[in-house]
Amino acid sequence: MVYMVLLDTGEKAMARLEIVKYGDPILRKVTSRVIKFDKSLKKLIEDMFETMYASEGIGLAAPQIGVSKRVLILDVDYPSKRYENEKAGKEENIYNPMVLVNPVIIQSEGEMESFEGCLSFPDVFFKVKRYQKIIVRYQDILGKERKFESQGDLLCRCLQHEIDHLDGKLMVDKPVSEAEMIGSLKEAGLDQVTSPPASAVLG
Ligand code: CO
Repeated sequence: MVYMVLLDTGEKAMARLEIVKYGDPILRKVTSRVIKFDKSLKKLIEDMFETMYASEGIGLAAPQIGVSKRVLILDVDYPSKRYENEKAGKEENIYNPMVLVNPVIIQSEGEMESFEGCLSFPDVFFKVKRYQKIIVRYQDILGKERKFESQGDLLCRCLQHEIDHLDGKLMVDKPVSEAEMIGSLKEAGLDQVTSPPASAVLG
């Protein structure tokens, strides 16, 4: 199972951290693999969840809180489910957290296009190209090797978006329409930001 119950580290309380915005060079760095599955990893993951939920995001990669490690979290059922439940006066079952450590796409096929946003690009939305189906190899929070197959839905798209973050790639690298992307960046006041892809940085 991908889904993980968060482990209590018994240490400091979770912290909501600031999200790194487009233009910061850390978003273009290729992250390093996690070797130690220890308390500090759990603390990082807890802080990532705290930050993602507080920001009403559905996915977050470690570089977005300034940590260049190969860790991503997702909860694509949030916040839509929360709104539904709130409307219905229910409070239970609103969280569906997923953690992937050292994820790599090992198989991919097809193509799909949909609107995407990113917590590092406030108020920017445009259509992005993704694979239609992927198989991801990753480790869970305890270091156990696992595989996950995803196809055609929000989770599949979100996984690819977050794995890209871990490779220093951003949604601006894969627009369906350059004009649509520039229009959206302009509206958000981000069209003048310079942040070339990692490969260009590395030469
Ligand atoms: Co993002």
